[in-house]
Amino acid sequence: MTGSIVLFGPPGAGKGTQASIIVELTGKPQISTGEMLRQAVSEGRELGLLAKEYMDSGKLVPDSVIIGLIENRLNHPDASSGVLFDGFPRTIPQAEALAKITTVSAVISIEAPDDEIVNRIVGRRMDPETGEIYHVLFRPPPTEIESRLIQRVDDTEETVRMRLKSYHEQTKPLGAWYSEFGILKKIDGTGSIDEVGQSVAAVVGSL
Ligand code: AP5
Repeated sequence: MTGSIVLFGPPGAGKGTQASIIVELTGKPQISTGEMLRQAVSEGRELGLLAKEYMDSGKLVPDSVIIGLIENRLNHPDASSGVLFDGFPRTIPQAEALAKITTVSAVISIEAPDDEIVNRIVGRRMDPETGEIYHVLFRPPPTEIESRLIQRVDDTEETVRMRLKSYHEQTKPLGAWYSEFGILKKIDGTGSIDEVGQSVAAVVGSL
């Protein structure tokens, strides 16, 4: 399939968890704006210093910053046959800017209610060595790697409630925007990780 795929949904819906299935099935590289920003923070870059304030308080980083980041990333040769966007676009201006630089063929929207999201986010643990995402209850990590796992600084209940507010006000309307182009594919994200993965694979197979 030519063109790019957008993985859309609220924080903690399972975008990062399910991205690997889409990468495996399509061969498209995953571009996560959240990961790019966290990398800039950990390297102490100017972009990171700017973004950290927004991320730690659960607000969206300004559109101009994110659009510049994506424009640069799409110039890399691996992006020439389309990519998988994870966590981008998140506002209508971001989607409009994206439409000028690449074709979006499908938007896969993983949906889950706010209370479920809070439980998922506060129990999330990340492996800094492999990038693997775990959950203390829903996807427990192997005991031998437990000591090296980290919790994201924005994974507190207070911050996730702010992230959900940003999602409902600024990002959710983008679903309806993409729906008008007939490319929005909704997935129920409330099943187990494997069940949601099967739904994602079925949608990708139908594209
Ligand atoms: P970002 O890193 O994109 O965070 P997010 O959207 O808040 O998404 P998450 O990574 O929290 O959730 P996810 O859907 O990937 O869930 P996961 O698979 O890990 O953005 C961080 C910040 O950067 C933003 O707040 C903003 O400040 C800034 N930013 C980034 N992009 C931006 C943009 N485009 N514009 C402006 N600002 C931007 O799953 C969560 C947990 O649930 C895991 O523990 C997992 O194991 C578990 N889980 C997953 N699926 C299931 C399931 N089916 N059942 C049970 N548990 C599950």
